[in-house]
Amino acid sequence: MASGHRLLLENAQQAVLVCARGERFLAGPAPRSLAVLEGASLVVGADGLIEAIGPADVIQRKFSEATFEERIDCSGKCILPGLVDAHTHPVWAGERVHEFAMKLAGATYMDIHQAGGGINFTVQHTRQASEDELFCSFQQRLQCMMRAGTTLVECKSGYGLNLETELKMLRVIERARKEMNVGISATYCGAHSVPKGKSATEAADDIVNNHLPKLKELGSSGEIHIDNIDVFCEKGVFDLDSTRRILQSGKEMGLQINFHGDELHPMKAAELGAELGAQAISHLEEVSDEGIAAMATTRCSAVLLPTTAYMLRLKQPRARKMLDEGVIVALGSDFNPNAYCFSMPMVMHLACVNMRMSMPEALAAATINAAYALGRSHTHGSLEVGKQGDVIIINASRWEHLIYQFGGHHELIDYVIAKGKVI
Ligand code: NIG
Ligand code: FE
Repeated sequence: MASGHRLLLENAQQAVLVCARGERFLAGPAPRSLAVLEGASLVVGADGLIEAIGPADVIQRKFSEATFEERIDCSGKCILPGLVDAHTHPVWAGERVHEFAMKLAGATYMDIHQAGGGINFTVQHTRQASEDELFCSFQQRLQCMMRAGTTLVECKSGYGLNLETELKMLRVIERARKEMNVGISATYCGAHSVPKGKSATEAADDIVNNHLPKLKELGSSGEIHIDNIDVFCEKGVFDLDSTRRILQSGKEMGLQINFHGDELHPMKAAELGAELGAQAISHLEEVSDEGIAAMATTRCSAVLLPTTAYMLRLKQPRARKMLDEGVIVALGSDFNPNAYCFSMPMVMHLACVNMRMSMPEALAAATINAAYALGRSHTHGSLEVGKQGDVIIINASRWEHLIYQFGGHHELIDYVIAKGKVI
């Protein structure tokens, strides 16, 4: 066996593999394949990938001659895959804490939006901010997410709306992608809101004719890497036709379709996503039965965001129905100025209590299925040999503590390891 710089996590009380058989997702209710090993060790190789995982004595024998740069004693602790956050809006400037007070006093999301608050408020501030300011706050937010166990996160643009600011946001995301250990899936969300003075059709024209060609050019020259295209498909924002045009154009340039749909009003967004071959649709509080069936058939994942329904007191997405129908259910924090939550453990907790998911379902949704929603489940989302060395170690003797506990996760999560590096 070749010697090299390796990391050994030894003698964990439990190791939760999530997927032990190379599955790319776990559809349906109560996945049984979380494959919990009692008394396990894990080796991350010098290349940052998982080199071995198994019973502690087996790993000890196999690696008896190997040199480890670092060893972590995991006695009495559990190891789990790094968490994957499938939906965030983390690049922005401008405080919106005052809107929380308005919401508590009874204002709805759309009341605030129409009064010039919400997304448009953030757009104004983000347009004015420098690239360095945006990077600085973004970096701090990513660090908070990592401390809460996130090792792969989807990050959207969408507070620029004009080409100049959307590009500024995407450059900020690109810089973090290159400089930080956390994995990033970058999403162009120029259709997050209709800019003032334009109709949805005019905004869609601008995106299709001006934004996307520029992004294609920057993608080819390697300046910016974008993975996904997003649209806020909603009554009073982008209608179904404009949404279709934008998503279709994005798909033609090789982006994965991953968009906001059926959140505040039933829009038949799920049906549209299934028709276009979307990788994921987020929110879905108002999805129809037909939409759920279409998503199950086409393997389009549902990214559920328990923080949104919680903050806005909306009805909960029908997670149980989706699971029972075989939809691939993922979770995201939806971190944004409206839902100020960095923590995927908190999101899993809310998903269990408010959306009636089981703990195994919630963990699968925040790991392998969230990775699937980002098209990354071949490399992320489970503890399997050959996958990225993204692991968390929790200071509890049963893995369920990660979900059972709400609040105070920094004390529970002992180590976060991303790309094989202890953070
Ligand atoms: O996913 N629904 C649209 N977008 C965000 C909210 C963004 C904002 O309010 O700034 C969401 O919840
Ligand atoms: Fe969102």
